[in-house]
Amino acid sequence: MKDLAPKRSDLEPIEIASLDEIQALQLKRMKWSLSHAYNNVPFYKAKFDAAGVHPDDLHSLADLAKFPFTVKQDLRDNYPFGMFAVPREQITRVHASSGTTGQPTVVGYTKNDISTWADVVARSMRASGTRAGDVVHIAYGYGLFTGGLGAHYGAERLGCTVVPVSGGMTNRQVRLIEDFQASTIMVTPSYMLSILDEYRKQGRDPRESSLQVGIFGAEPWTNAMRAEVETAFDMHAVDIYGLSEVMGPGVANECVETKDGLHIWEDHFYPEIINPETGEVVADGEQGELVFTTLTKEGFPIIRYRTRDLTRLLPGSARSMRRMEKITGRTDDMIILRGVNVFPTQIEEQIMAVESLSAHFQIELKRDGRMDEMVVHAEAKPEAASEAERAASAIALGKKIKSIVGVSALVDVTEPGAVARSQGKAVRVVDNRPKE
Ligand code: DLL
Repeated sequence: MKDLAPKRSDLEPIEIASLDEIQALQLKRMKWSLSHAYNNVPFYKAKFDAAGVHPDDLHSLADLAKFPFTVKQDLRDNYPFGMFAVPREQITRVHASSGTTGQPTVVGYTKNDISTWADVVARSMRASGTRAGDVVHIAYGYGLFTGGLGAHYGAERLGCTVVPVSGGMTNRQVRLIEDFQASTIMVTPSYMLSILDEYRKQGRDPRESSLQVGIFGAEPWTNAMRAEVETAFDMHAVDIYGLSEVMGPGVANECVETKDGLHIWEDHFYPEIINPETGEVVADGEQGELVFTTLTKEGFPIIRYRTRDLTRLLPGSARSMRRMEKITGRTDDMIILRGVNVFPTQIEEQIMAVESLSAHFQIELKRDGRMDEMVVHAEAKPEAASEAERAASAIALGKKIKSIVGVSALVDVTEPGAVARSQGKAVRVVDNRPKE
């Protein structure tokens, strides 16, 4: 793998500013953002008034803890445009969640917001090792999902040659990467595995591909998965994080030179970690739920948004701004199996530790009598797919899950290709338990 660390002189001054400078900027911007939300969004005015707080009560960054949280349901209640802080005519673009599990949630961006977003994605890509002039293959979905267009505007801002492929048609993905000699790919890590399979299917050696950097996000993935993709393609695999409610991709990103967690672009997005049960802010370094307050967004400011993502805050390293550890899971995709908390990433880690298994997997929950059961569907690698080998792999995986994760799971090792693929975010958990 090439050394792709950006030169210090290529960074924006704020990326390497002192903590004092960063905090002074944050305080100034936080005051503006709280007032902007309070004065222009009836929802925030009502909520702050009910909690007995006013934007003028913010004298330090820690005072933010006095303000109420915002949750997903608040966005649903104000569907579609009730949380916008500018007249609808000043909204340049909307994005929305798919709404498969309820009413969709809508977010809006002014022209300046779109520009800020392009800036933070460009900064993220530079941190990942991408440079102006590189060919960037974007396989995140385009449309209401923020992945495709968010990546697209950032890549253009950085000065790259953008290939806006979107998701799907995996054989064409491989062909275009090869024909256009892309050096960066932006895609969900689970779809990258499908692209890897397709390379092999076409008899192409992925290590010979032009790809040097993969910027993977939109779903949790482990360091074990990073090692798999980096070895298979001889490329850097870097983590990008974001969510529609806060901006989209580019809220935080790893640096290619350290790959030690994601630097949060704190000049625009202020993070807190709370205890998800009590709502208390916990100290940096402690695990909990990530909460964000936007500092510069005009169209859709959001105050203390509970992401449900679990992580912890760490001090800066390659950049001054704080890092968040790779997301371990979400409060709402945690499986509680017979009293033990299990995250799909823990299962992924164990699968990756079994040599004969590929990285595609799905967890099924079912009920046998009164007992909840977890079935892990994992796939054999093509070279280890005989019935006897699959049975041996199943035993090996079951043992690891039992001893390391601490639960008994039924393991089903399938033939290659049998686990459902997705072209965007993978569906890791299928709950087939009868609804009460
Ligand atoms: O997934 C934005 C995005 C697009 C990020 C492309 C990165 C790349 P939403 O669809 O609103 O937005 O989903 C946000 O996805 O709260 C996390 O649970 C999860 N997520 C996003 N990035 C990561 C990541 C986009 N790097 C939700 N690691 C978030 C783990 C992630 N989970």
